[in-house]
Amino acid sequence: MLLQVKDLKSGYKGVPAIHDVSFEIKKGEIVVIVGGNGAGKSTILRTISGLIRPTGGEIVFDGRRIDQLPAHEVVAAGIAHVPEGRWIFGRMTVQQNLILGAYTQKSEEERLKTLEMIYRIFPRLKERREQVAGTMSGGEQQMLAIARGLMSRPKLLMLDEPSLGIMPKLVMEILEMIREINQRGTTILLVEQNVHAALKLADRAYVLQTGRIVAEGAGRELMEDERIRKAYLGM
Ligand SMILES: Nc1ncnc2c1ncn2[C@@H]1O[C@H](COP(=O)(O)OP(=O)(O)O)[C@@H](O)[C@H]1O
Ligand SMILES: [Mg+2]
Repeated sequence: MLLQVKDLKSGYKGVPAIHDVSFEIKKGEIVVIVGGNGAGKSTILRTISGLIRPTGGEIVFDGRRIDQLPAHEVVAAGIAHVPEGRWIFGRMTVQQNLILGAYTQKSEEERLKTLEMIYRIFPRLKERREQVAGTMSGGEQQMLAIARGLMSRPKLLMLDEPSLGIMPKLVMEILEMIREINQRGTTILLVEQNVHAALKLADRAYVLQTGRIVAEGAGRELMEDERIRKAYLGM
């Protein structure tokens, strides 16, 4: 098991946002957590990445407790978090943004090697490496944010709603890219409101409702679940 989250509780200023959330990710999987706006998806990712402290429960990554580690040590342990809303540096070039993602790698040589690997996966970013990031389209900025996450060479890549605010045509492209990243050996935790697209990609999925996991199963299985279809897929 690569990640085990057990009875996790977390929130903001004493107000709980997630309650006893438990789930697991095996090495090599794409696991998706789907849920509506405000369900607690981002809170789960922020808690795993050490941006907020859990008020209860355990997070074990690669055989080691990480729930008390500061965020930079979580990155060093092998988890990258691509936050909601992208947060790229708009006035810096594509390449400068990418280099920033490699800060855990000590040598210049190692950083450049990682950069070359990233450019093989994202040829469009290579073409645009000198472009000021803020002048790219929303979809391209999302690609850059994902690529920057990969620059730390994570074992687990966590993606927070990469399809949000992106043209439908590009959404499929981004999801395909996530599949490719996974096939190249990175385990994926994706949280999404775009249930239909996300469940197609998922090996396994969990449904989060007001801070609690209410269903779990294989992606396809959940897509056929009557309750899920009614609640999330408008069918
Ligand atoms: N920075 C914050 N301060 C206070 N409450 C927050 C903050 N971020 C989120 N919340 C609250 O926590 C709950 C879960 O939010 P969030 O994890 O952002 O949900 P989701 O990502 O599924 O839309 C919501 O009730 C939301 O209002
Ligand atoms: Mg969110």
